[in-house]
Amino acid sequence: MAIKRIVKYPDPVLRKKTKQVTEFGEDLQKLIEDMADTMYDAPGVGLAANQIGENQQVVVIDITPQEEEKQLLVLVNPEILDKEGEQIGEEGCLSVLELSAKVKRYKKVCIKAQDIDGKPIQMDAEDLLARVIQHELDHLHGKLFVDHISTLKRSFYKKKLKKILQEQQGEDVENKST
Ligand code: NI
Repeated sequence: MAIKRIVKYPDPVLRKKTKQVTEFGEDLQKLIEDMADTMYDAPGVGLAANQIGENQQVVVIDITPQEEEKQLLVLVNPEILDKEGEQIGEEGCLSVLELSAKVKRYKKVCIKAQDIDGKPIQMDAEDLLARVIQHELDHLHGKLFVDHISTLKRSFYKKKLKKILQEQQGEDVENKST
């Protein structure tokens, strides 16, 4: 069990397209365990491998409410096969500090992927699950939900983020000195 540091926007690591997984062995299993631990600890409903600095096409998702039993969905090399409809909903991201915004997504998606052992999966998802899948697949393509918001909102956010990061650095310095 290992909780990893989550890479934060605007780190360029988040902008790189991830590579297809070709080996389904112990390393992949370890990565998926770490991703799940990191996501549940955050807590979040989804996490892509590049959010912990691993350049691989892997996402973990769990949209079940915290008080219910965990239902981890692991998608390796996921791809959207088909999409339909439209939904608008509030999104946030573990890599994007203190921002949530309304984002337009497809209402339904049909995806294919592989599981932890490399077995093919095909599934339909709608509403929240479809939204989270689209958000996580965006990550694998180097895209973030802030790309879906207006330029004006984004520039306001960048200013706010600069302040937050400066304040955090200030705290780090203080912590180190005590
Ligand atoms: Ni995210």
